[in-house]
Amino acid sequence: MEVTKITIDGPAGAGKSTIAELLAEKLGFLHLDSGAVYRAIGVAAKKKGIDLDNEEAVSSFLKSLSIEIKNSGRVFVNGVDLTEEIRKPEGGILASKIARFPEVRRKVIEVLRKAAEGRQVITDGRDAGTNIFPDADVKIFLTASSEERARRRYRELKEKGYNVSFDQVLEEVKERDYQDRNRKVAPLTVPEGACIIDTTGKTIKEVVREIENLILHSR
Ligand code: DC
Repeated sequence: MEVTKITIDGPAGAGKSTIAELLAEKLGFLHLDSGAVYRAIGVAAKKKGIDLDNEEAVSSFLKSLSIEIKNSGRVFVNGVDLTEEIRKPEGGILASKIARFPEVRRKVIEVLRKAAEGRQVITDGRDAGTNIFPDADVKIFLTASSEERARRRYRELKEKGYNVSFDQVLEEVKERDYQDRNRKVAPLTVPEGACIIDTTGKTIKEVVREIENLILHSR
């Protein structure tokens, strides 16, 4: 079987993006970061002064948006490159807020499916294997303890020069887990047929190797 679609789902900080990026490079696939699209919508809406708790306002704002993922993985909204801005911690919170709305999710799926047309893609997110690409050839679900995920996020943010405390990051990880798992629309779940990998105590290299083996055996 030729593998054209791989999905990686899991909670915040499980290592999805890093691992998807590395795998995409190794396999020559396009990396689609679905969280980045949610972040871009959240950031763009905030810039426009939209009330992110107002579903109607957010849904109607969506109609004015053209979202593009370039081959380089950079995300453009109405021609403006938001790649760096969406990585700020606030981007995750804004994304989580607007990700509750079905219209937003429909838009994100449309953007991602269009970007995947005729390509080999590896998509990471919360519902990549359940809703975005339920027909994916290989589905992975990455997990790790919340403390370990907070440690990783904390290190990453510190390296980028953000002044945050570990407790603050842990609190944020738990808050997002709660929101992602308990929302009515597309909550974070393990996709049917997915292989669960617990990355607690494992290096990125080890996890990448494990997934490469899975892909080899599914061929
Ligand atoms: O993976 P991330 O931190 O960039 O994701 C940001 C938020 O976007 C996350 O809290 C929930 C939402 N999200 C989602 O609902 N579905 C996805 N497939 C990806 C992200």
